[in-house]
Amino acid sequence: MSDVVAYEREGDIGLIRVTNPPVNALSQAVRAGLIEALTVGYADAAAKVLLLYCGGRTFVAGADIEEFGKPPLEPGLGAAIAAMEAAPKGIVAAIHGTALGGGLEIALGCHFRVGLPSAKVGLPEVKLGLIPGAGGTQRLPRLCGLEAALDIIATGRPVPAAEARRLGILDATIDVPDAKTAGLTFARKVIEEGLPAVRVRDRKLTAAPADLFEKTRAALRRRSRGQTSPLACVDAVEAAAALPFDEGLVRERAIFMDCMASPQRAALVQAFFGERAAGKIPGLAPAAAARPLNRAAVIGAGTMGGGIAMCLANAGLPVTLVEATQEALDRGLARIRGNYEGSAKRGRISRAEVEKRMRLIEPALELSAVAGADMVIEAVFEQLDVKREVFAELDRYAKPGAVLATNTSYLDVDRIASFTARPGDVLGMHFFSPANVMRLLEIVKTGRTAPDVLKTALQAGKSMGKVAVVAGVCDGFIGNRMLKYYRRQVSYMLEDGALPQQIDKAITDFGFAMGPCAVEDLAGIDIGYLNRRRQDATRDPNERYVDLADKLYGLGRLGQKTGAGWYRYQKDSRKPLPDPLVEKLILDAAAAKGITRREIPDEEIRSRVLCALANEGAKILEEGIALRPSDIDQVWIHGYAFPAHRGGPMFWADALGLGKVVAAMANGARKWDRNSAQNWQPAPLLARLAAEGSSFAAWSEARGEG
Ligand code: 3HC
Ligand code: NAI
Repeated sequence: MSDVVAYEREGDIGLIRVTNPPVNALSQAVRAGLIEALTVGYADAAAKVLLLYCGGRTFVAGADIEEFGKPPLEPGLGAAIAAMEAAPKGIVAAIHGTALGGGLEIALGCHFRVGLPSAKVGLPEVKLGLIPGAGGTQRLPRLCGLEAALDIIATGRPVPAAEARRLGILDATIDVPDAKTAGLTFARKVIEEGLPAVRVRDRKLTAAPADLFEKTRAALRRRSRGQTSPLACVDAVEAAAALPFDEGLVRERAIFMDCMASPQRAALVQAFFGERAAGKIPGLAPAAAARPLNRAAVIGAGTMGGGIAMCLANAGLPVTLVEATQEALDRGLARIRGNYEGSAKRGRISRAEVEKRMRLIEPALELSAVAGADMVIEAVFEQLDVKREVFAELDRYAKPGAVLATNTSYLDVDRIASFTARPGDVLGMHFFSPANVMRLLEIVKTGRTAPDVLKTALQAGKSMGKVAVVAGVCDGFIGNRMLKYYRRQVSYMLEDGALPQQIDKAITDFGFAMGPCAVEDLAGIDIGYLNRRRQDATRDPNERYVDLADKLYGLGRLGQKTGAGWYRYQKDSRKPLPDPLVEKLILDAAAAKGITRREIPDEEIRSRVLCALANEGAKILEEGIALRPSDIDQVWIHGYAFPAHRGGPMFWADALGLGKVVAAMANGARKWDRNSAQNWQPAPLLARLAAEGSSFAAWSEARGEG
């Protein structure tokens, strides 16, 4: 009998139990075990109904993603589901946790589905660059209709049990402690009431509105930023509407196999594993104890502090929010309330939840109010002297053992730690704006940060739903340090021949959510300006310096907040409109420097920013600032909206081939950027790996960190 799928009988119900920790993924052993257990169950004459359920924390969470990209192993999932549909008796699936992807597909192969109220179901394959490949696109529409199925499949969103019940995906939700009990309850009902065992494939499909597919395609083309799997999902669901069931299955399989072979799938799968790898820190035992975290405090209720307080409250933690003045505190609290009420208006949270979260945030005007907090996150002005004052005071008021974190964007966290008598308790927790929305959290570890402090920050990140990536101390850590080189290329290209709208389009065509000029307008031209002034003292006087953004600052064009920056904005609109005034400003500035502007092709724009990112990323890896290339990719995907289906800048470089990256840079030194060829000097690690025909991923793997 299989190690991972067991069969036993309880009275007249045959129980098939899958146990394949951690998430009961459908490995080859599970697929084979399922078929074996079904055969035994079918032959067991005393079993009137079969019940499929899982041990551990969840129902089957999908195909085994580790098997992707490798030669397929028999039996396939389709064969296991076909075996279910050939059943001589009814099969009930009992769902707890998450029935995702292939997990939901096997449940759809059963005749009945029940779930605990806390369960969720979904077909998230689209997020991995795939479509459901074992009948999900053909069976789900037969349960909940084409429109709802299309939404669920093309977004990959998890559907809570109550909604799944309403949509007909679940036959019942049963409020009992475990899936087995829920399944047994329903199986008895099937026997007692003689409920007919109808296969999902035999259910009638109701017609969809005539323009459903075209409308959905148009909306997805706008939204998916070049990712192809959402459109492939539409094709597959359309096949369900157009073809008999078995032909639809064949069509689904063909689309699935195409997706499986696509570079986007490879990129998205590595991003999936990269997200999970980020939390694993070499030398930090997985079981290492974190410090208790029952209450937090945030210092500063500005743009970042308010968002961070929301993240903590969203995770259910009480937060003391400390400000310098009543006015700033009131403003900060009003902004938080406004954000929550906006979420309630969009139906994301209930009104009661708004009040509950507001109650978790306790305002204060004295730093001594942090005394009860287990973790204090500072988000005051980006000035070392202000940080010094705050940390020196925190040292007086924070309780012994409290984690002391700074949200600084650039400042030296080691120095900030030295403002206290407990540097081991200090680290950076660098959130991204807007903090309550962006998933990235850079955790900046100094040479002295204690392991349990790091662990506490990682756990706090997880409980806030963040992707936490550990970085070492340097100017700008991982993300902002790389951003400097990306922006530098943008500024050179603006002076040398491109306009903001052309650069932004070339970058959004690649799949970024926004182009660099539109981003700067959103963040505020003043932020970059002040940062450049901070760097004036240490900037190499021979470095090419472009002062276009400084000129915008001088004109009071601070971006969206002043209605003008690189673009102009109409009242109450965030739509960037090209501005002839900016074009003139750029042309005049270039002429004043004697620059003959030239046409810069979109391909060059993309190559320049991507090579600049990968090259700086290589330095960051070599210096040990980032632990692995996938961590850098996570930073860019979750902090800077790099398209996940391109995998991140390091994955992009590996996929192109590091030899080609180096060749492009050599070409760039001659053609792109003649005045500063040193920008295209490959980082030693990049040069070495390119010469060896290797990759960042292989280098990382060899170090045991892949
Ligand atoms: N295959 C292989 N490993 C998986 C996996 C899967 N489907 N899902 C999760 N894992 C692994 C993770 O890599 C992680 O491993 P690690 O501990 O070594 O890092 C471990 O399981 C735990 O995962 P999480 O840390 O993500 O645990 P959470 O409790 O936070 O989340 C989850 C659980 C919601 C199930 C989440 O893991 C998840 O979303 N998994 C992916 C689900 C998915 O995409 N399924 C569809 C797969 S494609 C498919 O089914 C194709 C079919 O149509 C043919
Ligand atoms: P902000 O100017 O919006 O807010 C700072 C707040 O701190 C102000 O409300 C101010 O009154 C308050 N403050 C100043 N001194 C204080 C003190 N001693 N005690 C209590 N409150 C005090 O600034 P923002 O943008 O929120 O930035 C805060 C920190 O976060 C900075 O270190 C910044 O570099 C960093 N950061 C900013 C990001 C952004 O996009 N704005 C992104 C990531 C990090």
